[in-house]
Amino acid sequence: MAALASRTLLSKAAQQGVRSAGFHSTAAAARKVCVVGGGGGIGQPLSLLLKMDPNVSHVSVFDMVGAPGVAADLGHIDTPATASGHGMSLKQFTGDEAIPKEEQSAFQAKEFDAALQGCDVVVIPAGVPRKPGMTRQDLFEVNATLNANFADAVAKNCPDAMVAIISNPVNSTVPIFAEQMKKNGCYDPKKIFGVTTLDIVRAHTFVAEAAGVDVTSLKIPVVGGHAGASILPLLSQATPSVKDKLTDEQVEALTVRIQNGGTEVVMAKAGAGSATLSMAKAGAQFAISLIKAQNGEKGIVECAYVESDVVPECQWFATQVEIGPNGIEKNLGLGELDTFEKQKLSEAITELVPSITEGVEFVANMAEKKVA
Ligand SMILES: NC(=O)c1ccc[n+]([C@@H]2O[C@H](COP(=O)([O-])OP(=O)(O)OC[C@H]3O[C@@H](n4cnc5c(N)ncnc54)[C@H](O)[C@@H]3O)[C@@H](O)[C@H]2O)c1
Repeated sequence: MAALASRTLLSKAAQQGVRSAGFHSTAAAARKVCVVGGGGGIGQPLSLLLKMDPNVSHVSVFDMVGAPGVAADLGHIDTPATASGHGMSLKQFTGDEAIPKEEQSAFQAKEFDAALQGCDVVVIPAGVPRKPGMTRQDLFEVNATLNANFADAVAKNCPDAMVAIISNPVNSTVPIFAEQMKKNGCYDPKKIFGVTTLDIVRAHTFVAEAAGVDVTSLKIPVVGGHAGASILPLLSQATPSVKDKLTDEQVEALTVRIQNGGTEVVMAKAGAGSATLSMAKAGAQFAISLIKAQNGEKGIVECAYVESDVVPECQWFATQVEIGPNGIEKNLGLGELDTFEKQKLSEAITELVPSITEGVEFVANMAEKKVA
């Protein structure tokens, strides 16, 4: 009995503790980031990287289950950012403090509100990851609804935040999020980003290795979308130039490898999910760039999947964008493409258009269903 009482006390203290754990931030401005799905394979290392970054003052971890534990763990790290966990603990989900099933969604909604309030940046790696044999459509069905719901919560709690969406299929989830923000009357196209940074990270790694150049100084834009043929690495625009170091065959093989990098990891993990660690690195890099831009740092340029008119057929398209305190300041477009890239661009457009349409129609049909 006494042991049980002391366990309960300890667990309550741990939950309350994590909400205020940490040091006072010494960063230039107080910047709060919410990681939605922060208990997952991407979410945990991503939250860790954000907790370790001096530009971040608070990491708010939200998940269906397990976020209080992740935040307690993060809270012990000796960096200035604080951490808080929101959503059911494992005990509240199925354990000896279980919240009745019929009360769980109201509890989660309240926790989500608390997680999002005052956030400057919201990063969303929540959802189902791809497993071998899973179709893109399988993934779409689950993650589409999730992202529409997340937009409602962001619109309610932090409509001015910059939002970085990692949930796949990005080519559709980002238009879905945007359409739902429109329905909530607070869509700002300068602030909604699909995270394609992993494609750039992979391009740097694979090309540096093949060309024998220093990976840390290589910059390669990757445009288009974030699935298969929609991913278009622009090796002709690499800086420093790698043109003289690669044959045409190598450029073609590298392009295919960058496009299929995700599948490489899915196959290697053989049923245990998709890229998590490399995605966490990429997601943290992107989120930190958003915060630096909010803090007024100049010259912040990232590739991202954004609403654009760069390619007339595609309402959404990834390009390099310059980001300032209020979001995208300038879309840097495609630049000059070589013959191979021009051919690949038309393949990217063919792949992208139906995914964008599917996302936009998903929200339109949701509206119809609600009215009916
Ligand atoms: N953009 C990219 O480059 C890229 C790369 C890799 C993976 N992904 C995508 O990222 C997503 C997450 O992948 P993962 O490997 O971390 O998966 P995971 O299953 O390990 O983690 C997902 C987390 O989301 C949580 N979650 C599910 N529904 C939620 C909800 N309604 N509210 C809050 N949290 C919820 C789960 O509880 C889980 O902790 C997948 O959609 C995956 O396809 C994107």
